[in-house]
Amino acid sequence: MRTTRRAAARDAAACKAIAESVPDHFTPDVPDRVVADLGAHGGYVLDDDGGVVAFVVVARRGASAAELLWIAVRRDLHRRGLGSRLLTDVLGVLADDGVAVVEAKTLDASANYAPYVATRAFWATHGFVQVDTINALPGWSPGSPAAILVAALRPTVAR
Ligand SMILES: CC(C)(COP(=O)(O)OP(=O)(O)OC[C@H]1O[C@@H](n2cnc3c(N)ncnc32)[C@H](O)[C@@H]1OP(=O)(O)O)[C@@H](O)C(=O)NCCC(=O)NCCS
Repeated sequence: MRTTRRAAARDAAACKAIAESVPDHFTPDVPDRVVADLGAHGGYVLDDDGGVVAFVVVARRGASAAELLWIAVRRDLHRRGLGSRLLTDVLGVLADDGVAVVEAKTLDASANYAPYVATRAFWATHGFVQVDTINALPGWSPGSPAAILVAALRPTVAR
C-alpha cells in the first residue's frame, strides 16, 4: 500500500540512499544536503509496501508560499507514478495549510543535459510553470543554469 506521510528523523538514511540512487541527477554533495535540509525544514516520504521509496523536502516561505527543495524517487522505480503520488499528496497538504504558490528549481533546458528532460516533463505535468532562468544561482555549479518554476495552488489576486 502506498502512503504519504511526514518524514521522521528515522527516515534520513532511506532518503539519503534514494538521493544516492540518482547520480545522473544529483551531484555527490546532494545526499548529505538532503539529510541536512530534511532536518532543518522537514518533508514527506512515500511508503510503498512498508519501505520508503520517495521523498520531498519542503521549506515554507511564510504563510502562503513554499519551496520544494529536493524530490526523488528510488532509481529502479521511476516512471511508475510514485513521484506523482507523492507530489500530488504534498501539494494537497500544502494547499490545505494555506499555501498559494509553490516554487521548485531545476536544471534549465539550455544546459542540454539529457537526464533532466524527464524531470522538467514531470514538473510540467504537475502544473509547474517556468518563470525565470538564472545562471548561475548562488550555490549552483557554474554552467548549471537554473530553471525557476512555480505552481499556483490558488489565486493570489481577486479579479
Ligand atoms: C523526477 C521524479 C521525481 C519523477 O518521479 P517518477 O515517479 O519517476 O515520475 P512519474 O512516474 O510520477 O511521472 C509522472 C509524469 O512525469 C512525466 N515523466 C516522468 N518521467 C518521464 C520521462 N522519463 N520521460 C518523459 N516524461 C516523464 C510524464 O508526464 C509522467 O506521466 P506519464 O508516465 O503518465 O506519462 C523522478 O524521476 C526522480 O527521482 N528523478 C531524479 C531526481 C530529480 O530529477 N529530482 C528533481 C530535481 S529538480
